[in-house]
Amino acid sequence: MKILGIETSCDETAVAIVEGKGGLKAPYFKLLGHAIYSQVAIHEQYGGVFPMLAKREHSKNLVPLLEKALKEAKMLGRPAKSKKAPPEMQKKIRALLEREPELAESFLALLPAIPRPKIDAIAVTVGPGLEPALWVGVNFAKALSIFWNLPVIPSNHMEGHIVSVLLPEKKSRPESVSFPAVSLLISGGHTELVLVKAWANYRIIGETRDDAVGEAFDKVARMLGLPYPGGPHISKLAEEDRKRRPKSAWKLPRPMIGTDDFDFSFSGLKTAVLYSVKNLPDLDKDSVRGLAREFEDAATEVLVAKTRKAIEKFGAKSLILGGGVTANARIRHAFKALAADFPGLKLFLPAPSLSTDNAVMIAITGFIEAAKSRKLSLSRTFKADGNLKLS
Ligand code: KG4
Ligand code: ZN
Repeated sequence: MKILGIETSCDETAVAIVEGKGGLKAPYFKLLGHAIYSQVAIHEQYGGVFPMLAKREHSKNLVPLLEKALKEAKMLGRPAKSKKAPPEMQKKIRALLEREPELAESFLALLPAIPRPKIDAIAVTVGPGLEPALWVGVNFAKALSIFWNLPVIPSNHMEGHIVSVLLPEKKSRPESVSFPAVSLLISGGHTELVLVKAWANYRIIGETRDDAVGEAFDKVARMLGLPYPGGPHISKLAEEDRKRRPKSAWKLPRPMIGTDDFDFSFSGLKTAVLYSVKNLPDLDKDSVRGLAREFEDAATEVLVAKTRKAIEKFGAKSLILGGGVTANARIRHAFKALAADFPGLKLFLPAPSLSTDNAVMIAITGFIEAAKSRKLSLSRTFKADGNLKLS
């Protein structure tokens, strides 16, 4: 089954085509094409993602990215002689993309010239994320589904981060995930521990009560005068500090590390960094390095401690990590060490290219959901939902 995935939940616009096989029991995938455009440079000046700007950028980039992904998948063929869509179809597309007029125009300018690709369904992120941004992808997916008469599968972005590990970097068939699995999702918007009893069977067992861990990285980076997104900068400076001194020169709290649940809290840790900075006569490079290191250690230790508890409690046979923060070398290392403490536990880390937001994971989610429900629907009544939960 070939699925076209669309992702616009935050500041990444992406389109992918993935072929899935093996059904719900032993799914495996082949990447046929992926085109992604990151808006990070655009949002950098605001120190965070600005929703209306994200929406505009998605509208501008979706059609060119679709063309690029189809080309990579060798699905473009020879361009049709720039046929025009029939007036009735034009009307439908314009009505659907009423709030994204720029997208409607580029859609109608390009789509009629593209031969209908041999795909079986379209999968699109419906949440969680920034609603204005999500709607662009949702409306685009609906427009494509009308244009090509294909079913659309509404997909959960967080499920996407979990199933990312089904397409490892090396092309060989991946090792299969053994259940139950525990998944820790760490990104700019989320910090969740999820119990995965089988594919398409998820239960959130813990989550952050305030800031997401990636958000804490970004906010702490800002306090330390580092650019957005802050995660990679903190990580680099923390490593420099470790090379300079054997032990951390700072002491920050490890919030909720010992509590009897699977929840997290990062805002106290962030505030502790703020006070440390405020108490300094001036924020010199050495203090920045030292605070970056201690903050990274504190966040890592809390993530590891709660995940360890979840593995023990649920007798997990696999540990799946997902989300942009898994790019952090210290965190990757700490989780490898954690997994080594449990003989037989399989550790799954997403390929670096799939750890941040992408459309491949959405296409894979579409396959999993289609395999679960066994029939694809042509209904296009679903909505974007910024607060969508995994269930
Ligand atoms: O999953 P993602 O790409 O987007 C969201 O859905 O949020 O995650 C982005 C987050 C940002 O907060 C960024 O600072 C963080 O991932 N991040 C990192 C690193 N690379 C990216 N955090 C810590 N260390 C890193 N190396
Ligand atoms: Zn994400």
